[in-house]
Parts: sequence; C-alpha cells; structure tokens
Amino acid sequence: MVIETSKNENNNHSDKVGISNKEGIMTFPGFPVVLVCIQKNILTVAAVSFFSFDPPMVMIGIVPTRYSFELIKNSQDFSINIPKQDQLEAVLICGSKSGRDVNKFEAAGLTPKKSLKIASYLIDECPVNLECKIVHTLDLQGSHTWFIGEIVAAQKTKDYDRSHALMFWPREFRKVGEVIKSKVSS
Ligand SMILES: Cc1cc2nc3c(=O)[nH]c(=O)nc-3n(C[C@H](O)[C@H](O)[C@H](O)COP(=O)(O)O)c2cc1C
Repeated sequence: MVIETSKNENNNHSDKVGISNKEGIMTFPGFPVVLVCIQKNILTVAAVSFFSFDPPMVMIGIVPTRYSFELIKNSQDFSINIPKQDQLEAVLICGSKSGRDVNKFEAAGLTPKKSLKIASYLIDECPVNLECKIVHTLDLQGSHTWFIGEIVAAQKTKDYDRSHALMFWPREFRKVGEVIKSKVSS
C-alpha cells in the first residue's frame, strides 16, 4: 500500500512516498537461499544471516509452525548447505513439502552425508556445507524464532563461486549481481 506523504520542512523529499512498516522490510535487496538440515530433515531458508566473524556465528529464522521447528527445539545443531542455481527444483521441493509427510532427501534427489562434528546431516550435492552448533535461541514472539549457531566445521568444493548461489526476496529468485568495485576494506 502506498501512502502519499505531505511535504514539510523535515520531510522534503518530494520524490518519496510513505510505505507500510512491513513493506519497509521488503525493500532489502535480497537474502541468500540455503538448505538447512536439522537432524535428517531439510528445509529451505532465506532468513539467514551472518552474526559474528570471530567466533564465526550465523543465524537462521524458523517459523514455529514448521516441522523443522519441532526438530530444532530438540537438537543441538543444524547444517547450512548452499545450493547452486541449477538446484532450484530441490530448493522448491524442500521449501514446499514438509518432513512430516515426506523424506525430502528422497523427494528432492539429494544425498544425506554424515557431518564431521554435529549430529545433523549434510547435503552431499551442495557445494558448501557449514556445521553449526546452536549457542543461542532468540524468540521475541515475532514471525520467526532465531537460532544462532557457531560454525564448528566448514567445507566447500574447490571450484565453488558465490556467483553460482541463489538469492531470494521477495517472491523471486535472483542471481548475485555484478561486481562494481573490488578490494573494499570493511
Ligand atoms: C525461497 C524460500 C525461502 C524460505 N525461507 C524460510 C525461512 O527463512 N524460514 C522458514 O521457517 N521457512 C522458510 N521457507 C518455507 C519452508 O522451507 C517450508 O515451509 C518447508 O516446507 C518447511 O518444511 P518442514 O515442515 O519440513 O519444516 C522458505 C521457502 C522458500 C521456497
């Protein structure tokens, strides 16, 4: 919904219109798409973010109605598996079917692989596998509960390139864009 704003001294950007607060969230350019394994179930997750470089921590947001939520409450870990663009069909299967009804490894044609340091499985076909031990859970009664995991083991294929990964938001899949400046310190 677009709300017209009036011009005044403090808000004189004539080319801007007010949007709903929720729509404000939708203005972010995108989030990476990952396949998360909790125990031996997979779900597609776009609510994923880095949390800390040192120690290396990441976080995932899970909606409490998911079967995965039941699993993660009783787990100490999860794995993040980064799919490639040509694995979109598997991403859609893991993001629409429930582990309550189907074995998603079989349904999506993916192979479960034992982790090095955690109990949850890895997805062999994904070029990146990150093993995460849950160090904190954040439930502020919002749409997602956040699980912060410390990366305790990580693997990637030698030819992995981030430009092969998938981005999502909102309601569309995209590729990572072109580099417009490199060697930037942060
Ligand atoms: C592109 C995409 C991104 C998604 N991101 C999330 C997410 O961040 N968190 C979440 O709880 N569900 C997300 N979902 C929905 C779940 O993957 C989906 O509901 C899945 O079927 C849940 O499986 P489960 O019942 O086995 O847990 C996403 C789905 C898609 C297609």
